[in-house]
This record gives sequence, structure tokens and C-alpha cells, in this order.
Amino acid sequence: MNVLVTGGLGFIGSHTAVELLDKGHEVIILDNLYNSEIAVKDKIEKITGKKVKVYAEDLLEKSAIEKIFNENKIDEVIHFAGYKAVGESTVKPLMYYHNNLMSTINLLEVMKENNVKKFIFSSSATIYGDPGVSKYVEELGRGKTTNPYGTTKSMIEQILEDLYASDKEWTICLLRYFNPIGAHSTGLLGEKPNGIPNNLMPYILKVAAGELEVLSVFGNDYDTPDGTGVRDYIHVVDLAKGHVSALDKITKSGLYVYNLGSGRGYSVLELVNTFEKVNGVKINYKIAPRRAGDLAEYYADPSKALKELNWKTEKTLEDMCRDAWNFMKKEIK
Ligand code: WQD
Repeated sequence: MNVLVTGGLGFIGSHTAVELLDKGHEVIILDNLYNSEIAVKDKIEKITGKKVKVYAEDLLEKSAIEKIFNENKIDEVIHFAGYKAVGESTVKPLMYYHNNLMSTINLLEVMKENNVKKFIFSSSATIYGDPGVSKYVEELGRGKTTNPYGTTKSMIEQILEDLYASDKEWTICLLRYFNPIGAHSTGLLGEKPNGIPNNLMPYILKVAAGELEVLSVFGNDYDTPDGTGVRDYIHVVDLAKGHVSALDKITKSGLYVYNLGSGRGYSVLELVNTFEKVNGVKINYKIAPRRAGDLAEYYADPSKALKELNWKTEKTLEDMCRDAWNFMKKEIK
């Protein structure tokens, strides 16, 4: 298949590009380099030994998307591109709604004009809102999201449902991620957030690297085994493989929804302790107040993806911690 990967130079997009190329697919990347760098193209090619075509364009420019479809035979699209910082989205909601919604609508319109109707969307467990249970199944459906970033993901899911209802020729797959961490085992690809990280693992990495002094553990008074927040961490390579499984296994038109998670939760302190043990480094941390909007505990029920896509996670929390640190050490050299 010739697959257009939007945001394909980003954290999850680049790992997915590698897995697609390794499985024999052709990959065309569209990325505006807002939260990525062109050097990732060379790393993808170095890992796979294959060429990848990159268009450093913006999905808000509809003509740029049309150019890509005119110059390439696109069979399917995997859509990662979008702003994704929860905190930033609460400060700049209009920027998030404009960028994430309009870029997706532009993309879908050009796909329709070119009769390309196979679409995989990078969704998020955040669309469940606060469903009142810890184990999330797809049938829970979308809840009340707690930030504009999550709301854009929820709105795009709704747009895609309405699009499919209007034209049953579409094949649309919503992949709801839990907490992606880790890096490629070569250490060539990984997560490089701009500025002070919001998410746990990138923050731990900067403390381990001496770039930040101390990790704030946001609350240790939750109703969880050790009082700290519990999440379903998934290795980014397992997540990438989930996209390839969806691409290869879904052959009939329809609307498909899958959780991509490990099915088991780990607390903040379990992640910190595992990181220290696996990498032989000490993580300086302090207990801080809860972060507004955080839930105590949630994790995936991944059984539907196993049953229908024959996909499940294979890597452990130790693998995630080891690979993430291996990447960070190469970056700080
Ligand atoms: C994980 C746990 C924090 C930072 C977010 C988005 C979600 C998805 C993944 C995109 C929580 C605790 C964190 C820190 C801490 N992103 N924590 N100190 O909030 O589960 O999910 O990222 O799709 O949409 O909502 O991830 O890594 O921020 O937090 O104690 O400095 O770590 O309280 O329990 P989260 P996170």
C-alpha cells in the first residue's frame, strides 16, 4: 500500500513509518515540522534501509494536500498531525480548535475528491472523559472531555462517524491510545518535547539527564495502591505495530474503534522505581499537589484489538524505561 502519514516525523508517526516500511508499504510523510525535525527522515531511512518521501507542508494549506495527491498514488491515510499539549490547549483553545479540526477537514475533503477513503485516526483515551470506571472498553463511548485538546479528538471522532454515516464506502478506524512512552531500540527515534515536558516520562528523562532538578509527583493521596496516579503505559513500537495491524487487517469498508493499550496500569512511583532499577540512575522527586483535571486511575481493555486485529502489546515497562533512556543518552551527547 502507498500510505500517507501525516505528522510522520513526530514521535508516534516516525515509529509507525518504520513499521510500515518494514512491512513493505510505501510511505509518504506530510509534516509541518511544528513539533518535529527533518533529521528524523534520515533516521527512518537509516533504520529501514528504505527511502521515504517527505513533504514539509501544513495541512491548513489545502493546495499542499492536493499537490501530494496529484504527485502520488495514495491508497490510505494515517493521520497523526495535530497539536497535543493538554496544558497549552487550555491557554490557547482557538489555536487548537482551528488547527486540529481544520487540518483534518481539509485532509478528508481532498481524500474524498481523490476517491481515497481509507483513514486511520490517531485518537486518545482522553475522549472517554471521566466514565466512573478504571477499565475502559470501547463501548463506553465518548464522555465529557476535560480540556480543548481532548475535545478536538472527540470532535474529530464525531466528524468521522458522521462522514461514514453519509457514505458507507469509507473505511474509518479510530485508534484510542493510552500513554505512549519508550523509543526505538536503535536509539535513533524517540520523544523530544519542546520546553518543559507536561508528561511523566519526558520529565523523568530530563531529571535523569540533569536538565531538570526534581520530578513533582502530582499527588500521593489517590485511591490507588501507593496513592499515586495509575496509567496504562504502552511502548511506542507496540503502538506503531497496532497501526500496521489495523491497516493490514481491516479490508472491508466500515467504522472501526479500538483501544491501543497494554491492559494493565502502573503508578507514577512504579514507573519511577522501574526506571531507576533498569537504568541504574536515581530520580530525585518530591510529592506535590494533585494536578487539576487528573484522574486517579485508568487503563485499557485491549481485548477487542486482540480479537479483531490479532494485536497486543509485547514490550514490558522495563523495555519502555530502557529504550527511553537509551534514546535520551544519545540525544544529550
Ligand atoms: C501520567 C501520570 C500524572 C507529570 C496525557 C494526555 C493524554 C495523552 C497522554 C495524548 C499522571 C503524573 C505527570 C509529572 C506526575 N496524550 N505526572 N508528574 O495526563 O495520563 O495523559 O498524555 O493523547 O491525552 O491527557 O499523561 O504523562 O501527563 O501523566 O506526577 O510531572 O503521571 O498526574 O498520574 P496523562 P501524563
